[in-house]
Amino acid sequence: MTVLVTGGAGFIGSNFIFYWMERHPEDRIVCLDKLTYAGNLFTLESVMEKPGFRFVKGDVCDRDTVCELFRTEQPEYVLHFAAESHVDRSIDGPDVFLRTNLFGTAVLLDACREFGVGRYHQVSTDEVYGDLPLDRPDLFFTEDTPLHTSSPYSASKAAADLLVQSYVRTYGIPATISRCSNNYGPYQFPEKFIPLMIINALNDKLLPVYGDGLNVRDWLYVEDHCRAIEMILRNGRVGEVYNVGGHNEKQNLDVVKLILAGLDKPEGLIQYVADRKGHDRRYAIDPEKIHRELGWLPETKFEDGMKRTVLWYLDHQGWWRDIVSGEYKEYYARVYGEV
Ligand code: NAD
Ligand code: DAU
Repeated sequence: MTVLVTGGAGFIGSNFIFYWMERHPEDRIVCLDKLTYAGNLFTLESVMEKPGFRFVKGDVCDRDTVCELFRTEQPEYVLHFAAESHVDRSIDGPDVFLRTNLFGTAVLLDACREFGVGRYHQVSTDEVYGDLPLDRPDLFFTEDTPLHTSSPYSASKAAADLLVQSYVRTYGIPATISRCSNNYGPYQFPEKFIPLMIINALNDKLLPVYGDGLNVRDWLYVEDHCRAIEMILRNGRVGEVYNVGGHNEKQNLDVVKLILAGLDKPEGLIQYVADRKGHDRRYAIDPEKIHRELGWLPETKFEDGMKRTVLWYLDHQGWWRDIVSGEYKEYYARVYGEV
């Protein structure tokens, strides 16, 4: 069976490829990735030469490339990870988010319509639900929570979700959607909160915490997300949305303190900086549906996952040092100024 993975040179897509190839060595994996600033071929180094793997550099918005790939590969499963994924960049410049996240999804769905597909899976996000107040810990996002987006990123993801649902209803595309909470683990691009804090701490640089640092995210180890996606592909009901998250809510400040303690660095490195515009206060997933229907539960405890993640960044300094010395430098100066 051939599995098409878009965005496989990024954080979650690459982890998914490793996850799948280890468990299903008989399958062929085709990865379509544009290699934007967030895509990294070094990440895929260990699988590039494997006979069951093919990498194609290309844009999901490019209809000719996508159609040619469907024609030649005839994928049974299509997993759509490719996206512009960073909220701060979407505030800086929304255009590319609309193009990639919405139009790119439309192109893939059209290819599924034209060439047929066993399953199409849209990797979406809990951010489509907006946020929850800090003083209502009894509230959680369910699949019925209304879409209520805060950033151009989340709006583009919500728009793509609606498009997927329309293709299920109108054209009968066998699609599913997952809306996952914040992931962490190996190969996450250093602009994101956890790797950024680990790397700055390792470099004895200040750790820029937005606002009061009390915002809450519901952290999930990336492999648990990959397993949830596999379960949805296998047994999820067509047309359904599945929330993925593990009741692991943490305030940003507590995560930063955990990282500093793990690296034996002083809390004096914490620096409060201007808040993100439209900053969502709290995310919290109710995973009851995916647990009840598919038996999914997270397996990695936060403390264990964080230890593994910090160790990974310690052991893979070549991977991130290459990144932080390139285009990332300009981005960092633009967002964080002199920090
Ligand atoms: P990432 O930014 O690390 O990787 C994105 C990948 O997509 C990169 O390899 C990039 O080169 C590729 N890409 C971007 N534009 C492309 C285009 N036009 N054509 C082909 N490839 C393109 O992102 P991530 O954190 O791995 O997120 C993957 C997916 O999961 C996204 O859809 C994101 O919305 C979703 N998601 C992420 C999280 C999280 O915590 N990171 C949580 C829930 C959902
Ligand atoms: O919830 C799922 C989403 O999680 C995904 O859809 C997104 O693709 C992914 O980027 C992530 O979005 P967040 O905005 O929650 O993640 P980020 O890592 O950017 O920030 C996490 C929290 O940390 C958030 O409250 C903002 C804060 N933060 C972030 C950065 C980069 C800081 O305080 N300082 C920082 O420098």
